[in-house]
Amino acid sequence: MKKDNENDAGRNGDITRRDFVRTTAAVASAGALIAPTWAYARGDDTIRLGFIGCGGRGTGAAGQALSADPGVELTAMGDVFEDRLSSSHEHLRSKFGDRVDVPEERRFIGFDAYRKVIESDVDVVILTTPPHFRPAHLKAAIDAGKHVFCEKPMAVDATGVRSVLESAAEAKRKGVSLVSGFCWRYSAPNRASYAKIHDGAIGDVVSMHTTYHTNALGKQPRQDHWSDTEWQLRNWWHFTWLSGDHIVEQACHSIDWINWAMNGVMPIRATALGGRQVRKGPESGNVYDHFAVIYEYKNGARCFHTCRQMPNCSGDNTSYIMGTKGTCAINPWTPSCVIDGESPWRYEGDNPNMYQVEHNELFASIRSGQPMNDGIWMANSTMMAIMGRMAAYTGKTITWEKALYSPEDLTPPEYAFGDIAVGPVAMPGETEFLPGEAPMLIESGG
Ligand SMILES: NC(=O)c1ccc[n+]([C@@H]2O[C@H](COP(=O)([O-])OP(=O)(O)OC[C@H]3O[C@@H](n4cnc5c(N)ncnc54)[C@H](O)[C@@H]3O)[C@@H](O)[C@H]2O)c1
Repeated sequence: MKKDNENDAGRNGDITRRDFVRTTAAVASAGALIAPTWAYARGDDTIRLGFIGCGGRGTGAAGQALSADPGVELTAMGDVFEDRLSSSHEHLRSKFGDRVDVPEERRFIGFDAYRKVIESDVDVVILTTPPHFRPAHLKAAIDAGKHVFCEKPMAVDATGVRSVLESAAEAKRKGVSLVSGFCWRYSAPNRASYAKIHDGAIGDVVSMHTTYHTNALGKQPRQDHWSDTEWQLRNWWHFTWLSGDHIVEQACHSIDWINWAMNGVMPIRATALGGRQVRKGPESGNVYDHFAVIYEYKNGARCFHTCRQMPNCSGDNTSYIMGTKGTCAINPWTPSCVIDGESPWRYEGDNPNMYQVEHNELFASIRSGQPMNDGIWMANSTMMAIMGRMAAYTGKTITWEKALYSPEDLTPPEYAFGDIAVGPVAMPGETEFLPGEAPMLIESGG
């Protein structure tokens, strides 16, 4: 389903075996020189892949996984809707032939499809459903010892983020790779720019403004035979319980840029404005169409994020960073990454497809036995976006700790096809914030 400029289905860059060897060597040379250690009890070197959520991004990601490593085979697929799974299967089969080996008995439909994919003897799982389901699917995949690629955002509420943090720790304990779909972290121009910032090219970061100003998203008109559940799932980006609202679902990319520039330090509190001006009617669900967030840091830095999904308005998706010795503007689309000030610089290197790089690095890590783990920062960036939404919805200034430990949980009473009422559109000053407390750490006695 095409949504804005993010959906890259069909843009699977083909990669040859030679490219694969070159990429794995490059990843290996970033650390110690390591021999491939992939050996599986099955007795061959095939990596079996399953994916859950066969829409635009999932189909794109599965193609990139198949392109990343000539030994990958797609062997299981899961979705709540048969038509989504079938069209994805047809697309991948036409592109990758016999390497897509998903007979009827390994095509799973329904809310429990994720369990069946995970239990189907796969080695790697791709998680690309709407974000609401991510924490539970991630937990099941990691508990089963699978390597995971999971799309952003990682959750829609703080309860989900805490679960993702636990799964990330478990992935480390189990030695499996966990790679996130925060794709800009895998973009060469972005990597080079943030590396310059961390090297002090603009001095200390004192302020930052990131934007995600874009068009409204499409709608799937309701059909007579659709239940509320089906209608909401097919239009998931319009419902806060499914998407987290667009600040979480889409603009989390730009909020992750703040996390990246601030080197993983979390804000102490956030204040936000937001509302719904052009989105009207039941088909627009209950999400807002604009947000503006102020993140305050312990060292006095203030970082701002603005996002908007409205038609006929100017667009922008840039990171503007102000430091004590210069400024940096990163627009990764053009790409134009420029530092002005004491140490001027401009990115002039290559710009390989970042969606492909994610999978090249994931599969190289699996082959080499050196697991990757994006867990903490991917959960924190998601939480920063949720914190922004909480502050905008309630009109309150919210601290990091009270947001992260908030008991808010947007899960409906059950997952079933039937009636689900649409929650009210949040009203600042009236919508309640549910603060949480960090659990007390009890020191073990000696
Ligand atoms: N990194 C990026 O640039 C990027 C780009 C696009 C989308 N995304 C992310 O990818 C995810 C999917 O987005 P999309 O554009 O592919 O949406 P989509 O609607 O095209 O696909 C989602 C699929 O998940 C299925 N689904 C829904 N609930 C399910 C469940 N409980 N179990 C199994 N399947 C279920 C749907 O039927 C659909 O086929 C989102 O989290 C989105 O934010 C990331």
